Amino acid sequence: MAKNSPPSGGPRHVAIIMDGNGRWAQARGRPRLFGHHAGARRVREIVSACPDLGVDYLTIFAFSTENWKRTQTEVSGLMALFRRYIVKEMRDFVKEGVRVRFIGDRTRLDQPLQDLMDEAEAMTRQCTRINLTIALNYGGRDEVARATKRLAQDVANGRLDPESVDEETLPRYLDTCLLPDPDLVIRTSGEARISNFLLWQSAYAEYEFVDTLWPDFTREIFTDVLRSYGARERRFGAVTA
Ligand code: IPE
Ligand code: IPE
Ligand code: MG
Repeated sequence: MAKNSPPSGGPRHVAIIMDGNGRWAQARGRPRLFGHHAGARRVREIVSACPDLGVDYLTIFAFSTENWKRTQTEVSGLMALFRRYIVKEMRDFVKEGVRVRFIGDRTRLDQPLQDLMDEAEAMTRQCTRINLTIALNYGGRDEVARATKRLAQDVANGRLDPESVDEETLPRYLDTCLLPDPDLVIRTSGEARISNFLLWQSAYAEYEFVDTLWPDFTREIFTDVLRSYGARERRFGAVTA
C-alpha cells in the first residue's frame, strides 16, 4: 500500500486524548509548559495527515474540566498558549480547509479566548477538507449535565414532550450535536483511562492506548494506529457470520 493511501475501512472520526506533555518536559529537565508548547506544535502535523488517511473528523482533548486543579502557573500558561495558538494557526486553517469547532463549557474561559474561539469558528465555517474539534474546558459529565439542563428547560416550556425522549434526544443537546460518534479514541502516554472524554459519544468506539508521549506522536505513529484499527472487527452487539 502506498504510504499515504487511506487504510481500508479506516476510521472516519478519530478522537485523541493528547497526554504526556508534562512527562516529556520533565524528562528534559524543563518546566511543564515547555512540553505543552511542544505538544501544540504536534497538532498541526496530525491535522494535516488526516485528509490523506481518510479521516474526516479529528477531535482533540486540549483542556479538561478537571485540569483547573493544576497550579495557577500551568493553567494560565495553557490559556495563553491556547490564545496564541488560535491567532497563529487561524489563517493556515482557512488555507488548508480545516473547519474548526470547540466543545466544552466556554463560560469559564476568559473573554479574549472566547472571542478568538468564536472568530476561528466563523472564519472556517466554509472549510470542508477536515473537521477539527478542540475540546477546551471539556468534561463528558459536565457536557451531559449541561445538555440535560437544556432538555429539562425545553420540557418545562412545553417544547419537548417527555414521553418522546429516547436515546436520539439527548445527543441533540450535546456540544457534539453536529458530529458523528468517534470510531476510534487514541490516548497517548501509556495511561489506560478516558478521563471524562466523550463519555456518551464513545459508547461503541474502539480504543488505542499508545505509550508514546504526545509531543513525540508523529504522523507515522498515527498512520500505524489507524492501520491496526482497520484490522479490528466492530460488532455493535451483533454476531458476525
Ligand atoms: C496533557 O499532558 C495536556 C493537558 C492535560 C493539558 P499532561 O500535562 O497531562 O502531561 P502529563 O500527563 O503530566 O505527562
Ligand atoms: C486528560 O489528561 C485531559 C487532556 C488530555 C486535556 P490528564 O492528564 O488531565 O488526565 P489524568 O489526570 O491523567 O486522568
Ligand atoms: Mg496527563
